[in-house]
Amino acid sequence: MKIIYYNAFDPKDHGQLFARCMPQAEVRLWREGDSAPADYALVWKPPAAMLVNRNDLKAIFNLGAGVDAIMKLNDQIPAHVPIIRLEDAGMGEQMADYVSHAVLGYFRHFDQYRQETAQKKWLPKWPDKKQDFKIAVLGLGVLGRVIAMRLQQLNFPVMGWGRSQKSLDLMDCYSGPDGLKTCLAQARAVVSILPLTDETSNLLDRATLTCLQRGAYLINVGRGAHVVEEDLLSLLQSGHLAGATLDVFQQEPLPLSHPFWNQPNLNITPHISAQTLLDEGNAQIAVKLQHLEQGLRVSGVIDRQKGY
Ligand code: GLV
Repeated sequence: MKIIYYNAFDPKDHGQLFARCMPQAEVRLWREGDSAPADYALVWKPPAAMLVNRNDLKAIFNLGAGVDAIMKLNDQIPAHVPIIRLEDAGMGEQMADYVSHAVLGYFRHFDQYRQETAQKKWLPKWPDKKQDFKIAVLGLGVLGRVIAMRLQQLNFPVMGWGRSQKSLDLMDCYSGPDGLKTCLAQARAVVSILPLTDETSNLLDRATLTCLQRGAYLINVGRGAHVVEEDLLSLLQSGHLAGATLDVFQQEPLPLSHPFWNQPNLNITPHISAQTLLDEGNAQIAVKLQHLEQGLRVSGVIDRQKGY
């Protein structure tokens, strides 16, 4: 079995680690000009030249959860080649931790206390009631569900919104544009973990974000391109949104001149809410490769029409 490997994030080491867990395969790091035969490609943000017209491939594995980078090449990748995403592989737990931290930071006023105590101010606040603090989770895929369940375990009422109507335990689920408005209108906090597609790009603009009640809180762990950043900034400045925690941005790394850096009610992290855990990710791909070789079906195959 011949495997080509390309990871824009780490050109070498990750590929070598993967090669070690598949000793029976011939794994090579893909380089510009390599069109030698290959059975499988493992990629993160691949250049078009690696995949265009590669009719020999039996499948392409995406080394992360979000497939937006690879979907930019959708028209150029032969239609019969399945594209398979990483499913959870330790990312759900990390994201649930990240979102819980952000939700509790706002709900328990920790962000405010940090700023006040830095100025030696002793200002206790009354706690809010969890039952009055509904949280909307936008995106009910593998990761969205793990986040929603963790928030439920923390005793917050949780609602969900997705492209197609879902039915999940103990949770009101909404879909479609009207469903989004209804869901946001009830939410005190909103978490976005949507896939990035033509339909979800710039979804969180002024019109959508003002469906949230005044004083709501935004957490984005999906993709920066979901948010119209000027609109968010002006809503943070006007107080319509009390604050936000953002892990992803339109441009990454966030440019030094970006006004987000100076916005006090905004917490920024450098796209770390869920990092690919190499052992878990490699093990998952190795099992799926074996299953494909045995002619078995595997999960995580993306719908190339829908784009996720
Ligand atoms: C990270 O952003 C991923 O999609 O895995």
